[in-house]
Order: sequence, then C-alpha cells, then structure tokens
Amino acid sequence: MLSKEIRKKFLEFFKSKGHEIVPSDSLVRGTDPTILFTSAGMNQFKEQFLGHNVTYKRAASSQKCLRTADLDKVGETPSHHTFFEMLGNFSFGDYFKKEAILWAWEFMTKVLGIKEEKLLVSVYEDDKESYEIWRNLIKVPEKKIMKFGAKENFWPSNAPKAGPNGPCGPCSEIFYDGGNNNLVEVWNLVFTQFDRKEGGRLDPLPNKNIDTGMGLERVTAVMQGVKTNFETDLFAPIIEELKKYSSKLKTKSLNTIADHIRAVTFAIAGGVAPSNEERGYVIRKLIRRAYLFVKAEKPFLYNIVPKVVEIMKDTYPELLQKREGISLIVKEEEERFRHTLSMAMPNLTEGLKSAKGNVLGGEKIFKLVDTYGLPLEVIENEAGKRKIKLDIAEFNELMEKRKALSRKKSKIADSIFGPGISKKDAPEKVKNIAKNHTATHLLQSALRKVLGEHVHQAGSLVVEDRLRFDFTHMKKMTEREIEKVEAIVNDYIKRGVNIKKVEKPLDEARKEGAIALFGEKYADKVTVVSAGDFSKEVCGGTHVDNTKDIGLFKIRGESSVASGVRRIEAYTAGRARKWMEDNEKKKRETEKSHKRKEKEKHALKQKLKIAEENIGLIIKKAKDIKGVKVIIEEVKNADLGILRSLADRIKEKEKSSFIMLGSKDKGRANLVLGLSEDLVSKGANASDMIKPMAKIVGGSGGGRLDFAQAGGKEPSKLSKVFKIAENIATDIIEGVSK
Ligand code: SER
Repeated sequence: MLSKEIRKKFLEFFKSKGHEIVPSDSLVRGTDPTILFTSAGMNQFKEQFLGHNVTYKRAASSQKCLRTADLDKVGETPSHHTFFEMLGNFSFGDYFKKEAILWAWEFMTKVLGIKEEKLLVSVYEDDKESYEIWRNLIKVPEKKIMKFGAKENFWPSNAPKAGPNGPCGPCSEIFYDGGNNNLVEVWNLVFTQFDRKEGGRLDPLPNKNIDTGMGLERVTAVMQGVKTNFETDLFAPIIEELKKYSSKLKTKSLNTIADHIRAVTFAIAGGVAPSNEERGYVIRKLIRRAYLFVKAEKPFLYNIVPKVVEIMKDTYPELLQKREGISLIVKEEEERFRHTLSMAMPNLTEGLKSAKGNVLGGEKIFKLVDTYGLPLEVIENEAGKRKIKLDIAEFNELMEKRKALSRKKSKIADSIFGPGISKKDAPEKVKNIAKNHTATHLLQSALRKVLGEHVHQAGSLVVEDRLRFDFTHMKKMTEREIEKVEAIVNDYIKRGVNIKKVEKPLDEARKEGAIALFGEKYADKVTVVSAGDFSKEVCGGTHVDNTKDIGLFKIRGESSVASGVRRIEAYTAGRARKWMEDNEKKKRETEKSHKRKEKEKHALKQKLKIAEENIGLIIKKAKDIKGVKVIIEEVKNADLGILRSLADRIKEKEKSSFIMLGSKDKGRANLVLGLSEDLVSKGANASDMIKPMAKIVGGSGGGRLDFAQAGGKEPSKLSKVFKIAENIATDIIEGVSK
C-alpha cells in the first residue's frame, strides 16, 4: 500500500467516525508561537484542549512535523527522523479512552489489515482503565500488555516531574513486532486530561481529550513490509537520486541525507532561510551535516529538492511553486559552506597536527570555531579520523567566557569604538546605534504584521548611520507594503513606549514568544527586550529607552539578497530626516527643470503659431516680378528655426518665389534665403548669395542651392541686407545676373 493511500485511508476512516478533517498546520510558525517548529499534530489544538474555541469536538489531521531532539538517532535507527508526518485523531471533551482504543485497533487490524498477533500495546502503570479496555474489550493477551512509568507512558514524556506546563496525560502505545526483538512504536494514544502547573501539580482539565499520533513513515514501513522507513516509497526515490551524485555513500549516510533534505525542503517552503538564528540555524545545521557526508567538490544537495517535491506534491501542492526557490537557497548555502570549509580546512589540519598527546586543546578548538567559523562537528569528525580527542570542556568554558564578554561589551561604548572614533564622539555614536538597533526590532514586528508570520530574520546589520535587515519572504515588496511597514514603525515611535529589559530564564523567554537566537549557548538568564506588546526579543544589544527617541524611521530601499530572502535598508532620526530632505530637494529640482523645459517648449509653440498666422500677411505683401513672388520680410522675435520653417511653408504655397526672411533675436541677426525650383534652374544659388549678406551682419552663412541660412552679431544691418536682397532678386528674375 502506498504511503499516500495510507494517509488517505486514515483521514477517511476518522471522517466516517464523525471527525472534522483539518489541514496540516504550518511547519514553521504554526498556531503555537512558543515552539520553533510544529512537532506534533496536537500543537494546533492546544487551545481546544484547554476548553477554548471548541467549534468541532472531533478532528483528524496529517501534520507536517519537525523534531531535532533525536537528531543523533537519525540514520542510526530504522525509524527516526527530523521531518515526518503524523497522522492523528483528536477529541476535545468528546469521546475518551474507550473509543480511542477501539478505533485505533479497528484501523490497524481491519482497515490496514495488520495481523493482530504482530501487535503489542503498552499502558501507563497507574492507568487501570486503559488496561481493562485492552484486556477485556479488545482481548489482547495479558503478556502483550506492557506497563511503563511516566517516562515511557506519559505525554509529554515525564511531564508530571519535568514539565512543560500545559495539557498532558497518560498514554497507551501500539507497537509492531517486526521479528528479532525489533519492536517499532507505531501509534501513541494520549489521554489528555491534565493541565500541568508550575511545580508539577496536575490539575484536571475541564474536558477529557484525546490526542493520538501515528508516524506515517513507520506505519508505511510496516505496510510495505520493509525493515526501515528509508526503504518505503517516501524515501526510496530520494535515496536512488542521491546515489547518482555519490556512489560511495554508506546506507546510514544516504538515509541521513535523505532525512535532512526532506526537512530542509519543507522548512524553506515554510519560509525559513539558513541563518545563525533560531529556525534558520536548524536548517543551516541540517544542510551542513548532509553536505559533510559527501564532502562534495561542489553543491549537490539542491539537486535532490525536486525529487522530494515530486514525492510530496500531491499532498502538499505548495511545494511545486516553491521548488526552484528552495533549490536555490540550498545551493547558496552549500556554496557558502564550501567556501568556509576551504578557507578553514588548512588551519584545521595544522591544528590537528599540533595536538599534544593526541588531545586538541580547547583554545585551539575555540580559535577554529570562533575565528574560522568551522562547525564543531567538522572538527570532531576530522579529529575522530585521526583518533585525536578534543578538550570540549575547555572549549565550552572559552565559549561561555566569550559570550559573557560580548554581552557585557555590547552594553558599554568601548566595544563599538571603531578605528578613528574618539572617546568624545563615542556617546553620540552609541546613541545612534541604539536607535537603529531598536528600530530593527520594530521593523521586524511591522514586517510580520504586513507580510505575515513567515517573516523571519535572516541577517541584520546595525551601524551608526543606517540599519539593514534581511528576512525571509518570497516576493518583492510592493510600494504599498513598504509604505505600510514604514507607517507602522513610525506609529510605534510616536506612541512613545518605554523599552523594557527583563532578565529571565531562556525557557521562560521562549514560552512568552520572545524571539531568541537558536543554537546560542545562553547564560542561565537572558535579557528580554520588549517594546509594548509589539516586540519581544532576547537581545544583549544597546537600545534606546523609549521608542520616541528613534525620532523617525525611513526605508531607503528594498531588494533581493537570495531567492526567498529580501533586504530592507533604512535610516532613523537625523539621518532619516536628512535623507528625506535630500529627496525632497531632488524632487523639487527635477520638478523645476521640468517646468522650465515645459515653459520653453510652450514659448516656442506660441512663437511658431504667431509666425504662421503671419504667413498669409507676408505673402500678401509680396512683390510680384514677372510672376515670381519676392518676399523680403523681418519676423519679430524669431530664431533661425522659426525662420526656416516659415520659409518652407511659404515655398510650399508659392511655387515660384524668392524668400528672404530675417529677424533680430537676442541681440543677433538671423537670415534665411529660400529659392523656388524655377529660379535654381535659371542658375541661382542661395548659398553663394547669402555669404556676402552674412558678412554684412557680421557673421557667416551657407547652405544648398535652394536654401541657405546665416547669422551675425549686427542686427542693425538687417535693412541693408534686405535692400541688397531686393536687387539680387530683381537681377536673377530678369536674368541679368546669377
Ligand atoms: N502528541 C503525541 C505525540 O506527539 C501524540 O500525538 O506523540
């Protein structure tokens, strides 16, 4: 049976039992803000378990999940994953243990047809009710009902003692016996009946609930009769594809890479980009782990993305549109990592060679990690090959020290004295950095409001005169969106909200939904920086005291950094004002010069219009010598252009004509001379004729036989030129002279 048929059968079965089929919640930033990735089907129903917002009482789903807790087991066991799908049915104060157990059994044995003798079950040691149901209703032999403590059979595991607070309860599990002592836990039925409170108190919930979870990959392996999940139709094609790129990989490596690339594909589709923070760090780590198995010369993982999409597209069609973008992000991350490796590997080799007594000291490890950016696992890996041990304790100590130092430093001005900055300038600089830093927090909050919760920090730069913020978002922002974001941030600023800094345990900070750096080793207590109810981040940086200290926020540009990652560059306070003013000035100047040009164009048009109106008049005044119209006229305020076009127009109208137009314009004399064809054929040459006239007005001229122009600096000589022109006209028309 194909995995997709199992998924479908599961949902159909529970639909037939009155369940609402609910789509998978987002893998990233789903309904529950306190978790990095959705890790169970029940995450999206937390409120309903507490008795709030119950619109339907029964639900079933196939939920995309990602867990990193078992990262070390992935690839090592047949059935552990980072990304997996969880089939689940839920009851919110409706049916309870009996139905949950009966239906689970019915689905396993009747719908899927798994043989009863292959199944075993477990119950929580104090849960007599479940034991009775299995024993008396289902008739499972006693020896096949195992009893375990809260670590095994409470969900979340060991919740009474260890927490977390919130809905929890005893559970009962169904196992498949694959032979050779190979028991696979396939289905977990949780009887969510308590609300754990601080100190381990278990308050009964107003309603008794059901939360079940069955790993699709595991049940598929059972149904397809294969020993590991990696041989099912969910993984096998991915592994085949991988073999094309590396023929020497061991099965365990292939399985791990296949697992990781699925997780990476789904997380990026959900809007996460590789980074050093939170979710982005998980993805970065998975890509790096996968990449390291192959030690490839060039990026290869990205080639596998389309295969993952092909397998999953029917269930998750959104993958199809994002396929190319995901590939690109993976490729870029691989390239970046390859670069880091190639830069740092020689140092690692050198370092390992210098290891004393086969132990690499913490200081050396620290330098490789801190200065060269090498992931610890690469160092562990290479050291392992050479049988060299690492002094991890010392390394951790140094890391702690450095973090404590940088936390402390970021609070005082000294740490940001760059070259050339005197102590006198420093306080101003610190203030400006604080403005830009707080503005970055506000910007992130505004972006999430306008674009959606998928927006996630992928990088950021805060310096004295500007800020830069990279974030995950698939599309170019529209003008409207940019304006909105800017307006929201400025509104936060105007509201004049005090920036609060509270020290608290990281766990608590996360639970409150504070954005924290993932993979960072924090001290016991972290500082949570918050501004009203709109921003809350774990942050050791320098901030302003009140949002109004930022003064003004201006986005100067939005651009693309990588596929799926956008960048905003912005200014605050005085710099923002200056930028605005500069912009205004530029705008005014362009407007002005535009206006001037418009004006000139308009004036020209006016002049032409007036001149053209005069054509009739000019022609009327013409002297007729033997049928040839002799036109010699001064045109007011006309430049050469106007004179030329006038002469042309007259020539069009008067087929036999001698046209001499002149003007006094801006202290200069302009002249044009046009001759009709008949005069030219008699030997007249306009270009030759105009040259002496040009001399008279103190300039030069020339042209063709039928048309010539001239200009000079003595406009007062125009009438003299006109007299000469009249004589020339008479001469050529009467054939005396040329
Ligand atoms: N929440 C339980 C689990 O994750 C059952 O869905 O195992």
